[in-house]
Amino acid sequence: MIVLGIESSCDETGVAVVARQSDGLPRLLGDALYSQVKMHEAYGGVVPELASRDHIRRVIPLARQALSQAQFTLSDVDVVAFTRGPGLAGALLVGAGAACAIAAALDKPTIGIHHLEGHLLSPFLSADPPRFPFVALLVSGGHTQLMRVDGVGQYSLLGETIDDAAGEAFDKSAKLLGLGYPGGPALARLATQGDPAAFELPRPLLHQRNADFSFAGLKTAVMTALKRLGDDPTLQQRADLAASTQAAIVEVLVTKAVRAVKAAGLTRLVVAGGVGANSELRRQLNAAAQKRAWQVHYPELALCTDNGAMIAMAAAMRLDAGLAAPQPDYGFDVKPR
Ligand code: KG4
Ligand code: ZN
Repeated sequence: MIVLGIESSCDETGVAVVARQSDGLPRLLGDALYSQVKMHEAYGGVVPELASRDHIRRVIPLARQALSQAQFTLSDVDVVAFTRGPGLAGALLVGAGAACAIAAALDKPTIGIHHLEGHLLSPFLSADPPRFPFVALLVSGGHTQLMRVDGVGQYSLLGETIDDAAGEAFDKSAKLLGLGYPGGPALARLATQGDPAAFELPRPLLHQRNADFSFAGLKTAVMTALKRLGDDPTLQQRADLAASTQAAIVEVLVTKAVRAVKAAGLTRLVVAGGVGANSELRRQLNAAAQKRAWQVHYPELALCTDNGAMIAMAAAMRLDAGLAAPQPDYGFDVKPR
């Protein structure tokens, strides 16, 4: 079984090839990615119309690149997977349209994949994949969720953000600090030069025993702290504020994730989504896990943010689990929300 996977929900176009190997397990054989970050940078955020147009330009060359890396040709493909949502409607339509066009030309079926399931299963692309069951901490630009995962398609939501996502908190705070887009990695870089205890920032919902998050208040606190620093804060002051912001976000994520694993009676945590690339989050989660002899699994760093590999992998795993009914009729519908 050879799956071609297409991701186009936001500002990265990703196309990848996953194929079942002789040991029966699906493996990543080709992976091509184009990030539109440079194009959106000038606007301080993603411009949906520009994103759609660029996905159109990139998707076919990337498909060729991924297939050639896997040493396959288009006619080898058995099923074409695409991100069905959530994401930007126009951007999703490009990936879905390309997937359906390729599949129709090959007379092969398509499968629409939930973007978050892609993130959730992305650690299975790593050399040391997790085993079920586990608790998953999904931290992306649009979502922050804790989930109990008993198998492919067996997901129960334990808690989620009631307002902003963790990635959004990173991005919005970075914007306030005058850092570029995307803000998360920029804020994390600046934070390495700062004192995480310099500013006292709120840890919303930290002491509530549920698995819910709230990050909207943090952005307001960062804004207030910046105002107090006056018109021209020094680089050190900005670095201190960046480090304090990161410390607040990471402390809440780590505390709630550890509590969720304990409450579930499990010993395995899987972290996925863009914020999973944050090295301070990884450092603290690794320390917490080591102390308790738990295992923490992450996707490879390059596969934390959006990519086609996770979509192809999720499709292969759903097919293997007998959960996905491939669509033979190309009547695709995207689900932005
Ligand atoms: O999963 P992702 O690529 O896209 C969504 O599905 O949203 O996540 C993007 C988010 C952005 O908010 C970005 O700022 C954040 O992940 N991010 C980071 C880091 N790398 C990416 N946040 C903190 N530290 C990082 N190193
Ligand atoms: Zn994503």
